[in-house]
Amino acid sequence: METKIFAFTGKGGVGKTSLSAAFIRILSETYEKAKILAVDADPAVGLSAALGIEPKKTLDDVRLQIAESIEKGETGAAAELLSEAKFHLLDCIAERGNISFLAIGRPEAAGCYCKVNAYLKQVIEGISGNYDFVVIDGEAGIEQINRRVLEHISYLVLVTDGSKKGLQVIGTIRQVAEKLVTCEKTGVIVNRVPAGYAPELPDLLAVIGDDDTQRRNDMRGESVFALSEDSPLYCGAKEALKNLQENKNGIV
Ligand SMILES: Nc1ncnc2c1ncn2[C@@H]1O[C@H](COP(=O)(O)OP(=O)(O)OP(=O)(O)O)[C@@H](O)[C@H]1O
Ligand SMILES: [Mg+2]
Repeated sequence: METKIFAFTGKGGVGKTSLSAAFIRILSETYEKAKILAVDADPAVGLSAALGIEPKKTLDDVRLQIAESIEKGETGAAAELLSEAKFHLLDCIAERGNISFLAIGRPEAAGCYCKVNAYLKQVIEGISGNYDFVVIDGEAGIEQINRRVLEHISYLVLVTDGSKKGLQVIGTIRQVAEKLVTCEKTGVIVNRVPAGYAPELPDLLAVIGDDDTQRRNDMRGESVFALSEDSPLYCGAKEALKNLQENKNGIV
């Protein structure tokens, strides 16, 4: 199977992490034999809790470790450095069934973030081919599109709430992505909206209402695996995934 890469983007707080996690759960249950890589590309961290998977190390930990060993002169040849990086990378991947989880981590020092983003891009490009599906929970806003971290993907999923600002942000992402991202398809999920709200968008994948179960799960610190299969978030994610894969739009 050719690797399919999903990247979730949009304004802050609209549901990117919850929806990435729901997609990951649905993919893992639908394709039991598939290998799925879940990537938390947001330094603010969230996908780990949403999936209930805790990584021992993050990409930023590895990047710093390698930088330190270079400074101390502990690493010799480039080949040695490469094998050290690969070895440490394995430590970053936590597993739950057919899901492997990797997190970018939280760069402490100001100004470090572009370095870890560049590293993330290389890592995604380097290891994606080992998986059937890769789902990337992106940082809020446009930065990772601008930095070309999400340059080669299959599906760009734009998440918004019903607000004008949310729609503006996906409009901007769309414009920039046209120039900087190669992808098969874009699609929009409108999340947490009142019943009856139906925005007119050419590539609408699903409209999801306010989900009480999700809110309760959040309060109990439960993962997306605790969502019932008839909850709005789960059903909406399933519909959006189906529409993306069948190359159809949703309600429009
Ligand atoms: N349909 C929904 N109904 C109710 N609550 C929801 C729904 N979707 C998401 N939430 C809740 O809204 C909050 C924000 O969601 P989430 O963390 O997924 O957004 P995000 O876009 O990843 O945010 P950030 O930009 O901060 O990373 C969370 O508490 C989440 O549980
Ligand atoms: Mg998030």
